[in-house]
Order: sequence, then structure tokens, then C-alpha cells
Amino acid sequence: MNLETQVTQAGRGGARLDVDGISVRFGGLTALDSISFELPAGQVVGVIGPNGAGKTTLFNVVCGFTRPQEGQLLLDGKPLRPVPHQLSRQGISRSLQGLGLFPGLSVVENIVAGASHSARAGFWSGLLGLPRADRDERELYERASALIDELGLGAHAYSPPSTLPYAVSKRVALARTLISEPRLVLLDEPAGGLGHEDIAELGQLITSLPARGEGCSVMLVEHHVDLVMDVCDALVVLDFGKVIAHGTPDEVRDDPLVAEAYLGAEVAT
Ligand SMILES: Nc1ncnc2c1ncn2[C@@H]1O[C@H](COP(=O)(O)OP(=O)(O)OP(=O)(O)O)[C@@H](O)[C@H]1O
Ligand SMILES: [Mg+2]
Repeated sequence: MNLETQVTQAGRGGARLDVDGISVRFGGLTALDSISFELPAGQVVGVIGPNGAGKTTLFNVVCGFTRPQEGQLLLDGKPLRPVPHQLSRQGISRSLQGLGLFPGLSVVENIVAGASHSARAGFWSGLLGLPRADRDERELYERASALIDELGLGAHAYSPPSTLPYAVSKRVALARTLISEPRLVLLDEPAGGLGHEDIAELGQLITSLPARGEGCSVMLVEHHVDLVMDVCDALVVLDFGKVIAHGTPDEVRDDPLVAEAYLGAEVAT
């Protein structure tokens, strides 16, 4: 039995993502220069690097916002052409930049809105008043209610987002990412704007993601290096569009190239 099979059997399934030779150029600027790494099933992989390293560009490639000029993505070994509004159909879910909550909807409705593809599956039956739509909707609200319990949002379920403390809004945004039961979650700076205690709580949440449902893999783009070191199984370090280090947090922490990239960035700012 290979390691991957063992991992799957332990409930840490999730999708495997291969980033294979991805290059993105904006005019004369090479934002990503033949990037390759793997995100094994059920792992949390962090993507870090100084300002302008290419992190957001990579995130956008995996979300389908940016088409690379070269290279390919593979999901569980099959070519993946991500389409932003169909990501959840492809088993992928991403945190929106900022919070992206709908101001006119309550917390529970915002969470349910994250499952747009399931809702669309029931669209015609909904229109025709068939029981399928009721069942779909009931299931969605049951899932949302489980997430509300799990993420400690019970006191806020029927509140509009504008009344929530910032850290609570971030948890709502995460719950919305999880309602479609994704096998790959892409998180873009989830710790942005959070205080120390909230970051610790977020860290616990992120480490619990791989064991969810059928299993889940996580790609985490984050500036907050302490958080990334705590929660990631592996790190990919980008600098000037290239992978300069890839390994466990300990390996990366001791890598002189990484220290140099960050030091160089500090000196430059
Ligand atoms: N749409 C674009 N058009 C032109 N250049 C771009 C575009 N998007 C990004 N770039 C450039 O590509 C490089 C990588 O940018 P990217 O935003 O991916 O870096 P980053 O690692 O996310 O940086 P930060 O830590 O500041 O968020 C930068 O030099 C940036 O100026
Ligand atoms: Mg960025």
C-alpha cells in the first residue's frame, strides 16, 4: 500500500494538485517563471515570498482568473482548466479577496450562497416546484447550520454582516468556502487584519480542514509567516516568480536563500 492510499484510508483524502511548469508574463515582466510543485492529497501547503514574488498570480492561475502562457495544472492527475464561476463543480473552493460577504443577507444566507452550484443544480426543479429543490435547500441549510456550530457562529446566524466583529466575518467567509464540501481549498491571506488570538484560532481551523468530509487539501497564500510555519505540512517559497525553496517549515526556515530573499525585501522597502 503506498502512502497516498494510507492517507486516503485515514480520512485525509482531498484532491492532489500538480502545478507543472507554469509561466505567466505580463508584457515584458515574468510574474511566474516555470513554477512546479505538488500539493499532495490531504496536505496544507503554504505559498510565501516577499512582495511581488508572484503569490497572487499563482493563486489566480489556480482559480482560473489568469491563464498561464506555459505549463499545466493537474487535479488528481487529470488536466485542470479552472473556470472561476465553476470552481465548486470542480471540487475547488476559494476564499474571496477581502470578505466578499453580501450585505443584504444574514450570516446563514451568506454561507448557503457559497454553494451556488448545488443551488443551480436545483434551479429547474425549483422553478417547477419539484420536491428535489426542497430537499436540496434543506440539505444546504443543514450543512450551513453544522458549519455555524463548528465555527462558533451560533450567536450571529441571523445577523447581517455589517454588525459582526471583523474576526467573526472572516469565519463566516471561511464557512462559505466550506459549504460546497470542496476537496481543494484555496485561501488567500486569511489572517489579513486579524489580531494574535484570532490568528491562533484560525490556525486551528486550518489544520482541521484536511480531516473534513471526504478529505480536503489546502493551498494557503499568506504573509503571516508564523501562521504558515505553524499550520503547513510543506511550504513553497517564491521570489521573483521562481520557486527558491520547497520543503517542510523547518527546512525552509533554515534555508539561506529564503533568509536572503526576505532580508533583501526588507532592505528594499
Ligand atoms: N495584472 C498585472 N499586470 C502587470 N503586472 C502584474 C499584474 N499582476 C501582477 N503583476 C506583477 O507581477 C509580479 C508578481 O505580482 P503578484 O501580485 O503575484 O506578487 P505577490 O507575491 O502577490 O505580491 P504581494 O506580496 O505584494 O501581494 C509583480 O511584479 C507585479 O507587479
Ligand atoms: Mg499578492
